[in-house]
Amino acid sequence: MSSIRVWQGDITRLAVDAIVNAANTSLLGGGGVDGAIHRAAGAELLAHCRLLGGCRTGEAKITPAFRLPARYIIHTAGPVWRGGEHGEAELLAACYRNSLALAEQHSLQSIAFPAISCGIYRFPHELAARIAISELRRAQAADGSLRELILVPFGEDMARLYQRLLAEA
Ligand code: APR
Repeated sequence: MSSIRVWQGDITRLAVDAIVNAANTSLLGGGGVDGAIHRAAGAELLAHCRLLGGCRTGEAKITPAFRLPARYIIHTAGPVWRGGEHGEAELLAACYRNSLALAEQHSLQSIAFPAISCGIYRFPHELAARIAISELRRAQAADGSLRELILVPFGEDMARLYQRLLAEA
């Protein structure tokens, strides 16, 4: 049975099979965690991403991790929060579900997620955290190759939120 745990800090430092990037649909880099991942992975990542043809919101694509300690990067484009009436919750759930499916297709054992859409894309944090935990628990129940599911809050507030929601029944 895989475990779900919280690790607060810079996701680019994790030596896991895959870290997930909260990218945009161009996959050509940006700010936030996307910028941190591209800076740490090096210029080869951008060159590789140029060949991918972008990524639709809710979809996921995998690349090598180049200079990162992780083996792979799974890039997913989260939804921009527009009030909640435009399918944002379903699209965010799809980001987690498709990233997890891609990890399973590659028989990966460990994966780490940033708080997708919770920064520049302004998604409400508690709703996003509930969606993340629900999708990770679904993957846990499926009992595939994944053994370690890691939520990576950057700040203390997000870390406390994940811990509180994971402690709920
Ligand atoms: N490690 C882990 N988490 C991080 C890091 C990091 N190094 N840097 C930022 N974060 C956190 C933020 O604090 C936030 O909680 O990642 C979460 C997601 O925030 P953003 O990176 O702003 O991503 P998102 O809200 O999904 O917006 C995506 O921003 O960077 C651009 O190209 C990206 O256009 C896309 C948009």
